[in-house]
Amino acid sequence: MGKCSKDKRDLYYRKAKEQGWRARSAFKLLQLDSEFHLFEGVSRVVDLCAAPGSWSQVLSRSLPEGSATIVSVDLQPIAPLPGVITLQADITHPATLTSILKLFGGEPADIVCSDGAPDVTGLHDLDEYIQGQLLLSALTLATNLLRPGGKFVAKIFRGRDVDLLYSQLSLLFDKVTCAKPRSSRASSLESFIVCEGYRPRRGWLPESLTLAKTKLPLDLESTAAGSMDRERAIAPFIACGDLSDFDADATYQIEKGVGSISLEPVQKPTAPPYKTALEKKRNGTLR
Ligand SMILES: C[S@@+](CC[C@H](N)C(=O)[O-])C[C@H]1O[C@@H](n2cnc3c(N)ncnc32)[C@H](O)[C@@H]1O
Repeated sequence: MGKCSKDKRDLYYRKAKEQGWRARSAFKLLQLDSEFHLFEGVSRVVDLCAAPGSWSQVLSRSLPEGSATIVSVDLQPIAPLPGVITLQADITHPATLTSILKLFGGEPADIVCSDGAPDVTGLHDLDEYIQGQLLLSALTLATNLLRPGGKFVAKIFRGRDVDLLYSQLSLLFDKVTCAKPRSSRASSLESFIVCEGYRPRRGWLPESLTLAKTKLPLDLESTAAGSMDRERAIAPFIACGDLSDFDADATYQIEKGVGSISLEPVQKPTAPPYKTALEKKRNGTLR
């Protein structure tokens, strides 16, 4: 498939390049914000799994200059962005929490967002498990970093046990919503949980999330048992983005003339997996 045909097949991909976003994911966060007003009064924000950096771009363009500290974390190096502190780190590693806290001078965050996705192996069960672990790590960081009343936004894949996830999140946040931005393909299970009003119950310890065979603190045991007895939670499901926005599953004609020009990516990958192979090819050492 040529570059131009992808531009037509996926208009968000094309528009991202036209508007200078590093990835089409920028539109997902913009559409989530238009529904939930995520950035009001935000002065400290963490963008987890942030490379190549389009969510961080949205944050730095949406928050008034100099009003907020934005920390963006990814396994991959993130090319510098104005107004954004980038951190190359693994969100599943405990030391990452300390590094972020240091950057905030020990102050809590107003919002933690995560667009994390592992490299897929094609083995469905393994991929689902790794995605779950990534979400758990993002949530662990969020519960350690957020101020009371703070927000957590994360990518999820709506699988079989998603209602259990909603029940668990409802123990920590006042309001949990599942949202599907228009720029996220309807054919994909991808959606986003938007958790508002961080309010851990009495006795809650953030470490509880990561302890193997978690023994919940006493106060919580009865709450958790009670919530399992009740019907499993169903989070409201909201489509966001204006109806006049582009449909992520449709194919569009691009304006005549302009459409035939293929646009270069806004930010080329900093450490692509094929980098070594390319270097070897150049040196003639590729076998
Ligand atoms: C879909 S991309 C994020 C796109 C980003 N939100 C944007 O708008 O540019 C998913 C990212 O998750 C990162 N990731 C996966 N596992 C990670 C981990 N354990 N720690 C940090 N980042 C991770 C990947 O390196 C990848 O850059």
